[in-house]
Amino acid sequence: MSAQLRPLDSSSTPHPAALPRRTVAVAAGDGIGPEIMQATLAVLHAADPGLSFQTLTVGLQAYRAGHAAGLGPEVFEAIDQYGVMLKGPITTPQGGGYKSVNVTLRKTLGLYANVRPCVSYAPFVRSLQPDMDVVIVRENEEDTYAGIEHRQTDEVVQCLKLITRPGCERIVRHAFEYARANGRGSVTCMSKDNIMKLTDGLFHQVFDEIAAEYPEIRSQHQIIDIGTARMASRPQDYEVVVTPNLYGDILSDVAAEVSGSIGLAPSANLGRRHAMFEAVHGSAPDIAGRDIANPSGLLLAAVMMLVHLGRRGPAEAIHNAWLRTLEEGLHTADLWQEGKSRERLGTQAFPEVVISRLGQLPCQLAPVRYPEPDPESTAAAAPAKPAPTVTKATSEKRFEGIDVFLHWDIPGRDPAALAAALAQVDAQGFELRLITNRGVRVWPSGHPDTWCSDHWRCRYRGASARAVPALLGALIDAGLEPIKTEQLYSFDGQPGFSLAQGE
Ligand code: NAI
Repeated sequence: MSAQLRPLDSSSTPHPAALPRRTVAVAAGDGIGPEIMQATLAVLHAADPGLSFQTLTVGLQAYRAGHAAGLGPEVFEAIDQYGVMLKGPITTPQGGGYKSVNVTLRKTLGLYANVRPCVSYAPFVRSLQPDMDVVIVRENEEDTYAGIEHRQTDEVVQCLKLITRPGCERIVRHAFEYARANGRGSVTCMSKDNIMKLTDGLFHQVFDEIAAEYPEIRSQHQIIDIGTARMASRPQDYEVVVTPNLYGDILSDVAAEVSGSIGLAPSANLGRRHAMFEAVHGSAPDIAGRDIANPSGLLLAAVMMLVHLGRRGPAEAIHNAWLRTLEEGLHTADLWQEGKSRERLGTQAFPEVVISRLGQLPCQLAPVRYPEPDPESTAAAAPAKPAPTVTKATSEKRFEGIDVFLHWDIPGRDPAALAAALAQVDAQGFELRLITNRGVRVWPSGHPDTWCSDHWRCRYRGASARAVPALLGALIDAGLEPIKTEQLYSFDGQPGFSLAQGE
C-alpha cells in the first residue's frame, strides 16, 4: 500500500475568493500528444474549473512550417498573455539545426524551477519502492544547460557550467517554500561540491544560508552520487530534494523510475510570470494513434496547473477520481497487471471512467487534499513578486593574474619543452607559475605517467588586466596559439578560481 499520498503541488499563485474565468494556452504536441491532450481536456471540462483553452501550434507541425524552434509565431504572444501553458510531449527532430521546444520555452520564459513529484501507487502500479513520495525541485535554466560549448583544439571540447547566485537563491527558496506550503518536513540539497568547489560550492552555500531562514524545516546536504543511491534505496528519508540542473535531470528520472510511475509522472516548470505543465514522458511515437497511451501524466500535470491557478476544488476532485480509477484496477495497457487489473482502458475510454468518479474518494489509497495555502508563504504569493535576495556586494575585486589556454602539440608533448618555449616569451610583467593539462599539474614537477592532451593551461600571476593583450600578442608572435583565457580575480581576498595541486 502506498504511503499517505500528498498533493502534487500547492505552491505558487494567489487565489482570489471569486476566481475569474481565465484562458490557458494549450499545445497538444506530437506522437501521442493529441490523444492524451484530448483525454485530459475532457476531464478538465467535466470538472469545470472555470478555464478556457487556446490551442497553439508547437512541435513537428511548427518545424514543418519552417519554424526552426518548433514554435509558431503566435506562441510567445499567447503565453505572455495567459501566463500558463499545458503542453503535450514534443518530438525533437534529429539533426538539421532543430532546437528543442522544451529548452527554448524554459529559457525564454525564465521557467527556473522544475518541480516533479515522484510518487509510488503500489500495489496498483508496480514499484521498486512502494512508499516513495519525493518531490524533486530541479534548477531549470543554468548549469551545463546554458548550451555554451566550444571546440578548442583537435582533441578538446568544453562545456561551460554557469551557476549564478540569484539562480541558486531562486531555486533553493522555491524548494523551502514548497516544503512549507505542502507540510513537508525536510529539504535535502544534493551537489558535487567536494569536486566543483566554486560552482556547486555556491549552490551548497546558498542552500545553507536560505535554510537558516526556515528553522522549522530540517535541511541537509548530500553529495549527489551517494544521495542518488540513497534516494533509490531509502526514499522514505527524503521529502523534497533541490539540486542543480544536470543532477536534477538524472535524479528526477531515477526517482520516477524507482517509484514505478515514470509514465504517470507530471512536472511543473515555474517562472516568475509564466508556468508550463507537462507529463514527464515523451511523444511515444511507437504507440501513437493506437488508443493505448496512458493520459495520466498529462492529467496529473493539469492537476498541478489547477492548483497553481487556485482551482483547488476541481484539482482535488480530479486527483481523487483518478486515484479511485487506479485502485479499482481500471488501467491502461502500460499499467496492466495480470490478476490485479480489472479492465483494460483505451486512451479515449479513460477520461469517461475518471469523469464518472468525480466527487468520489479513493478507498485504499489515501485521498489527496489541496488546502488553501498559507498567505504568509512566498511560494503562495503572486509569481511576479521578486524573490528576496541575499546577494552581498563584494567590497574588493582584485585582478590576480590570468590562465592562458594554449593549443600546443609537438611530438612527445613534453611539458618542460612548453615551459622552455614560454620562457623565451616576454611575459609583460606576468610570472608563469604553473602549467596544467586537463587540470593536472604537469609543470613544474609533474608526474611522467600523466597523459597530456593538446590543451594546456598556463597560469600567469601578477601584472594587471591592462597587460593581458600584450601577453597574448607576445605568445602569438612566438608561434604559440592561445585559444582561451580566464582572468583570475580575488573577491574580498578570497580566490575566485580553483587552485591547482600544491599551488
Ligand atoms: P518516450 O517517453 O516517448 O517513450 C519511452 C517508452 O515509454 C516508449 O516505449 C513509449 O511507448 C512509452 N510511453 C511513453 N509515454 C507513454 C504513455 N503516456 N502511455 C504509455 N506508454 C508510454 O521517450 P522516447 O521514446 O525516448 O522519446 C520519444 C520522443 O519524445 C523524442 O523525440 C524525444 O525527444 C521526445 N521527448 C519529449 C519530451 C517532452 O516534450 N517533454 C520529454 C521526453 C522525450
